[in-house]
Amino acid sequence: SGPIRLQAAAVQTDVFAGAATTLWAYQGCEGGKSCLNPTLHVSRGDTLDVTLHNTLAEETTVHWHGLMVDEANDGSGLHPVPADGERQYRFEVRNRAGLYWYHAHPHNRTGRQLQMGLAGLLLVDDDEERALRAKLGLAWGERDLPLMLADKQVDGRNAIVYRDEADDWIGNRVLANWSPEPAMTVTPGLYRFRMINVANARVLRPAFLHEGAPLPVRLIGTDGGLLDQPRIVDDLFLAPAQRADVLVDFGAVPAGARVVLRSLDYVAMENEDESGPLAPDIMADHPGAVAMGDALDLMVFDVEGIAAPPIHVPDALSSLPPPPDTAGWKAREIRLSMGADGEWLINGLNFRSHGHHPAFEVKRGSREVWDIRNNMTSMPHPIHIHGVQFRVVSRSISPPDIRARQVADSGLGPQDLGFNDTVLVWPGEIVRVAIDFSQPFSGTQRYMLHCHNLEHEDMGMMLTFAVV
Ligand code: C2O
Ligand code: CU
Ligand code: CU
Repeated sequence: SGPIRLQAAAVQTDVFAGAATTLWAYQGCEGGKSCLNPTLHVSRGDTLDVTLHNTLAEETTVHWHGLMVDEANDGSGLHPVPADGERQYRFEVRNRAGLYWYHAHPHNRTGRQLQMGLAGLLLVDDDEERALRAKLGLAWGERDLPLMLADKQVDGRNAIVYRDEADDWIGNRVLANWSPEPAMTVTPGLYRFRMINVANARVLRPAFLHEGAPLPVRLIGTDGGLLDQPRIVDDLFLAPAQRADVLVDFGAVPAGARVVLRSLDYVAMENEDESGPLAPDIMADHPGAVAMGDALDLMVFDVEGIAAPPIHVPDALSSLPPPPDTAGWKAREIRLSMGADGEWLINGLNFRSHGHHPAFEVKRGSREVWDIRNNMTSMPHPIHIHGVQFRVVSRSISPPDIRARQVADSGLGPQDLGFNDTVLVWPGEIVRVAIDFSQPFSGTQRYMLHCHNLEHEDMGMMLTFAVV
């Protein structure tokens, strides 16, 4: 793939019926809706060469979420691209095959810029993935599809609404792949969905329901690519930024049936301080929105037509190694809490005051375990680490709903069994992740560690750390 030019621009679209909606998007070619936020396809080992031209009236970036890149190519707010500015990102794609994504990441403005639309998908391919695709025989764009899920708060004139300094920006409209009221006709047979939650704050709990009962779903991959073997689940938790690669068999329901992709209800645990839940004041900002944790329909699938021949799903998906034995690795505490003034903190620090100065340094080539510890009175935080893919090695003190998902030792659920770059840490939990910092870069590289609830991030629930 040759050089790509992306122009961050405000564009008029017809996303919602009736009146035009302004989106902020990455335009991948001249004019035309199909060029907004183009899905980029690369192979492991390729060089990705993207020049961003910022035509917005404020600074922005392109962050390559989940990719192992150096600081200069990470697109974090450390290197903003000013209005009218340009920046080239050029790096070798070193990650395993999987669904990654790119999005804006300027300090204090990430929530607004993603709500307005600055996000796209990046699919990485490799030999293992090609071998699996050959066995499954599901054509990309037909029976192998991305499902990019988001909620937006939209007013009566179809404008996307956002308020600075807001908390938890949830929305009253669901978009799947930028379409409202998403619906699709499927044939009775196996489909593969690359699901990603690109909402600002809403944690989803997707399940494929037929007459209210979940279809068994095979989870085959997570943020950092394929699992070693499929894991059968009824539903998943998909927090902002997380991905899940799933196989769903619509041949399991009668032709003519309707399957609903619904985010099931769950205990949102928004008990963020002793003075009570945040929910009432969040709902005032979001007329028509479903409260966090309440059931929300995302998409419908109408099953029609002739059954496709059955497909054998291999037991061995990839050569993913088992989680590492971390005995003797350096352990680091990552504490999530709220300060006296209601500001979110990581290790007692807030990015707005602490800023670009690294809160800690990690030695290149070292391996560390990080114990991410959430307060008992808190909310679930999707914690994301730039520049690496990590393994979850244990969950302790999990709430009952999470403990019930355990499928492996040490409290691990199915989604903990692969490589991940974002992990949901529930109130009271301690999630231990193992990180290998043997990066092929030299010199000091600064990265971000933050909550991917974008309002938390913008309110400073983010730290800079350095690999040296
Ligand atoms: Cu997806 Cu620091 O971000
Ligand atoms: Cu990221
Ligand atoms: Cu958070």
